[in-house]
Amino acid sequence: MTVSAIRGEIVSMRADPFLTPPEEAIQHLPDGLILIEDGKIAQVTPWSPEAAKGLPVTHYPTGIISAGFIDGHVHYPQTQMIGAFGLHLLDWLNEYTFIAEQAFADKTHAQKVAKIFLRELLRAGTTTAAVYCSVHPQSVDAFFEESSAFNTRMIAGKVLMDRNAPEALQDTAESGYAESKALIERWHGKGRQHYCVTPRFAPSCSPEQLSAAGRLWSENPGTYMQTHLCETTDEIEWVLSLFPERKSYLDVYAHYGLTGPRAIFGHGVHMTEEDFSQCHSSGSALCHCPTSNLFLGSGLFRAFDARKKERPVRTALGTDLGAGTSFSQLQTLNEAYKVAQLNGTKLTAAHGLWLATRGGAEALYLDDRIGSIEAGKDADLVVLDTESTPLLKFRDSYAKNLMEKLFVLMTLGDDRAVRATYVAGVPVYDRDRSESFTYP
Ligand code: GUN
Ligand code: ZN
Repeated sequence: MTVSAIRGEIVSMRADPFLTPPEEAIQHLPDGLILIEDGKIAQVTPWSPEAAKGLPVTHYPTGIISAGFIDGHVHYPQTQMIGAFGLHLLDWLNEYTFIAEQAFADKTHAQKVAKIFLRELLRAGTTTAAVYCSVHPQSVDAFFEESSAFNTRMIAGKVLMDRNAPEALQDTAESGYAESKALIERWHGKGRQHYCVTPRFAPSCSPEQLSAAGRLWSENPGTYMQTHLCETTDEIEWVLSLFPERKSYLDVYAHYGLTGPRAIFGHGVHMTEEDFSQCHSSGSALCHCPTSNLFLGSGLFRAFDARKKERPVRTALGTDLGAGTSFSQLQTLNEAYKVAQLNGTKLTAAHGLWLATRGGAEALYLDDRIGSIEAGKDADLVVLDTESTPLLKFRDSYAKNLMEKLFVLMTLGDDRAVRATYVAGVPVYDRDRSESFTYP
């Protein structure tokens, strides 16, 4: 049995601040100890030498230990095109994205990018993500091979797209189904890897392909389904013109059996009350991607509307990189706060931390394993450093309480504020070690 111990300030979300008073939703140990056994959290206690039971203790005196961050929506083949200038969604896809993704026909290229991508996630403190690969099955192999080497809990899948894209990026309803099925057999449930059926979005999938995706998802219980929903107004108009018989964008997915538990819809910026209600009652999740929505000028996600008490919709936080502009969930929360401001709402540090951890885990139906620091959960952890830059250190010294400290960290923090990342109890990333990653 492998046993280890970590000491530091511990924060973990125990309740949903959208539904309970934010201050009460955070569990806080100013000086705590986490005992880890075989990749899982065995015990969480206030620090005392006796509590360490004679184990060597890794101590982070300026560290805040949190559950590892969860990124509910991200495209790994877009790592090389972050910050592509000047366009809105549909032109951005044609001009930049569909060019960059063609390179993933080459597995060597996919391996190179998967390596960088996964390290960037870990450097940002993200331990679980729902990841879009490209249309090429080898891009999925490259990603899961890399994730398996780190033992990260990842959700990923081959993009399905059989129309309205360059020929080189199109599969067919039949080939997309067969290739995805083979990938499910190869990867789903292998170690900590989860497969996700991934129709890109309704405009890039024919009715036959959406139907095949629905069939594939229902034939493989426990797998996920991810796609895009109501990101921009132009996109919504296009969907309604392509599917005139459906009453809404979400209704297209519902019609093809693509709503329900483990469905993750990226964006959901322009949602009606009926859309939110349908997500709530079907158990589908939305993923809020503020840096992307601001970068592409898509609109403002209404987080407090999504989490309305009467019909809360499962809601995660996503970077949506490469339309998103940062791997860091701290920076993503910085933008989420501003989006909430423009909506006339107040996103506290508790709301932010919940979205990036426990809320994300609930959205992904993984809250029995990840998203909080509790005995029995996987020891996927991030150690945040409140003194990582001169400005953060100075500002932090004026923080009056935990909520302010965390809020400042979300406003000023980025990958530099991540001191270490633990995956299933193993410190896979340590900012201050000369070889930062345990796996080369
Ligand atoms: N809609 C369809 N594909 C994409 C994509 O790659 N990024 C974003 N942001 N929206 C999409
Ligand atoms: Zn996306």
